[in-house]
Amino acid sequence: MTSALPAAALAASALAVWLSTAPAGAQNEPRVDYLLQCQGCHLADGRGSPEHGVPDLRGILARYLALPEGREYVVRVPGASGSPLSDAELAAVVNWMAEAFGPQAIARTVPPLTAEFVARVRRPPLDRVEGIRERLLRAAPGAAAEAPGGYGEGLGATEAPGPVPSPRLPGR
Ligand code: HEC
Repeated sequence: MTSALPAAALAASALAVWLSTAPAGAQNEPRVDYLLQCQGCHLADGRGSPEHGVPDLRGILARYLALPEGREYVVRVPGASGSPLSDAELAAVVNWMAEAFGPQAIARTVPPLTAEFVARVRRPPLDRVEGIRERLLRAAPGAAAEAPGGYGEGLGATEAPGPVPSPRLPGR
């Protein structure tokens, strides 16, 4: 059976060889770091594979950056926290992902993550993410992307949507 994977792996390793010839200390472009460290699971366009537990990031990622706990969440999920990227590189990759996967309207208004912030919150990694994601997404802005009312379909139009308390992340 022919699969696209070996070709992708080959391209990534060719890229890694090429990158290893770059001057020492040079930082990769965030797009390249994403390709090397994250794309294997999250796929090029961020669609992931929800059926295997890798969430779809499209139209979602930037929403986390609008909440303090969400900003922490995106750097404490195991794939991000434990990646070999430096704090500055991880900040740059997540900022790039917010712009690439959107919603762009939110990505443009949230302050970018900084290396200092990543260094402060990155560890320990979250070992359980179930439930946190859902609660964060309920509290985060951005349902506006789908619904002009701004809070999705769940709430009645006459009901004034009060602020949803944002969940506390465990263990730091
Ligand atoms: C080995 C596969 C894998 C790799 C590599 C990986 N991730 Fe993930 N990622 C996951 C899985 C699975 C989840 C769902 C949460 C969990 O179970 O850990 C996730 C969740 C996330 C989330 C939360 C998304 C949401 O909506 O809840 C972010 C942000 C994220 N990853 C960023 C990254 C970044 C940045 C990298 C690269 C530095 C990366 N991941 C590399 C598998 C991976």
